[in-house]
Amino acid sequence: MSAQNLGQNASPLRLGIAGLGTVGTGTVKIIQKHAELLGLRAGRPITITAVSARDRMKNRDVDLSSYAWEDDARALALREDVDIFVELIGGEEGIAREAVLAALKSGKDVVTANKALLAIHGQELAGLAETNGRVLRFEAAVAGGIPVIKAMTESMAGNEIRRVMGVMNGTCNYILTRMESAGLPYETVFEEARQLGYLEADPTLDVGGIDASHKLAILAAIAFGTRPSFDAVEIEGIERVSIDDIRRAADMGYRIKLLGVAQMTGRGLEQRMSPCLVPADSPLGQLQGGTNMVVIEGDSVGQIVLRGAGAGEGPTASAVISDVVEIARGVRIPSFGQPAARLSVPQPARTAVPAAYYIRLQLTDKPGALAKVAAVLGDSGISIDRMRQYGHSGHEGIAPVLIVTHKTTPEAIDHAIEALPRTGVIAGEPVELRIEEV
Ligand code: HSE
Repeated sequence: MSAQNLGQNASPLRLGIAGLGTVGTGTVKIIQKHAELLGLRAGRPITITAVSARDRMKNRDVDLSSYAWEDDARALALREDVDIFVELIGGEEGIAREAVLAALKSGKDVVTANKALLAIHGQELAGLAETNGRVLRFEAAVAGGIPVIKAMTESMAGNEIRRVMGVMNGTCNYILTRMESAGLPYETVFEEARQLGYLEADPTLDVGGIDASHKLAILAAIAFGTRPSFDAVEIEGIERVSIDDIRRAADMGYRIKLLGVAQMTGRGLEQRMSPCLVPADSPLGQLQGGTNMVVIEGDSVGQIVLRGAGAGEGPTASAVISDVVEIARGVRIPSFGQPAARLSVPQPARTAVPAAYYIRLQLTDKPGALAKVAAVLGDSGISIDRMRQYGHSGHEGIAPVLIVTHKTTPEAIDHAIEALPRTGVIAGEPVELRIEEV
């Protein structure tokens, strides 16, 4: 068969799509809009046999009339006229997991956007796929349209990965950048985000850092050949980030981002998701609105920066289609870049990598107050790099003070933060944020 007519004459690859929300309908739309192009690129036509969702009557702004309908995704997963089961339901348990298991057991390849499912059951599912000679692909699960899974499993296959990090929740980045640009408090912007429909049904998934941590756990597994271990991610969300800190950090040349970082150290695997300061002029510092960015460092290639839309109909469906086309082309890559059975159980390790820290204090304005603060930092082995005291606006006798430390350990910072209130010269709780080298 010549290269020119491959797309027309080869047997079609038949999809069953479960879940017709934003990503599901977006996937159907791309297949309808680009049928010919996809056939040429894939080497065979890509068709949809059947679809499934909770509510058949819902208006989805897409023509589904030529596809069979299944009320139950598990029945869709078992259909003989489906080659790839496309799971776009979501959730780490329940129907999504059962349907994926059913599809893999019945000999189908699976494409999914389900980050929670993979972060928690990824090793089991990848193992089942590989035992059954099937593939399980999930480009859409991490950072929406950004091709980070393929970058890591394919393009960077020759590298030992040193570190992977990124901003992987667009809603949090929208909230943080909007707080800065409009000078609004967290609660107001959170409400705006809700009105705009940016928040997940359970907003804690976004602002609590859970969604981004699912994604980090998946990337860490690929990067370090370990089982996805979401439970071991140290997670802090953005709920406590104040407009004061955003302003003060900006004064010092930084922006606050919900940053995920994973790296393998001699003590084990560090995975953390927390608000961090990054230089305002760095690629991560420049990231605005709902955009995502993933930074991967390999021993041979150096640093790779990927930036793009981390959510939304078109970008996420684009990633789903990329997996479908890859399977249609006959490319069969282990889910996590190496056999699932060989993924090791990681030893979780708390971050010990030294970093500079930002500390914000409300200092009572009396003689020797600053000296007491400096003494606590000195006793904790912390050296001050920069310091700034602001005027006594609002609160009588209280002066906001900002300190940027030289590099120090998390343990030293914990020690200092615990000791500072005992000086008797601090009002309220000190705030401390890590400054990440990016
Ligand atoms: N809620 C996510 C975000 C998109 O805001 O990036 C899906 O993971």
